[in-house]
Amino acid sequence: MRSRFVLGTVIVAFASGVGCSKTALTPIATVEQIMETTVEPVSFKVFDAAVWENGKQVGGPETDDDWKMIEANALMPAETGNLLLMGSRMKDQTGWVTRTHAMMDAATEAAKAAAAKNIGAVFNAGTKIYDACAGCHQQYINPLTVTPRAGAN
Ligand code: HEC
Repeated sequence: MRSRFVLGTVIVAFASGVGCSKTALTPIATVEQIMETTVEPVSFKVFDAAVWENGKQVGGPETDDDWKMIEANALMPAETGNLLLMGSRMKDQTGWVTRTHAMMDAATEAAKAAAAKNIGAVFNAGTKIYDACAGCHQQYINPLTVTPRAGAN
């Protein structure tokens, strides 16, 4: 009994010691790296969630797993917004925040649409994600060298 108590105390002391020095958030990757490895690939999964030809849907999610993956991919541009709002990554406290939140809101909307298995709503939210990408690039990349690919048709 006694030795267990002592061990517990040691663990608590150790954990709080680690917590003190490691809780501060530190940006590691560049904005460019986050865009290329995360924001772009996951948002293209949403843009490409369904394929239309001449206004008719010819491909798209079928199984529960397909829908789950669209939902998860849609959540990532939202989650990545948190990374874009960390410390030195923020280009300013105004437009950058608004643009990031536009992407986060549109991505969250796409995730909800996927959870509801509503492909039309996924597509509409995808258009909003696309607009959020383009809006931020227009404002912050000079000269504009990146244009996100258009959504599914
Ligand atoms: C809050 C602003 C912001 C949002 C929102 C944003 N981007 Fe970016 N993006 C940037 C900036 C700034 C750069 C330039 C980074 C650099 O080169 O330093 C960039 C660069 C990129 C690049 C090019 C990386 C390179 O230089 O080769 C891609 C691809 C990209 N973004 C895709 C996207 C997509 C897709 C979205 C939307 C889902 C998006 N971005 C949303 C700010 C944003």
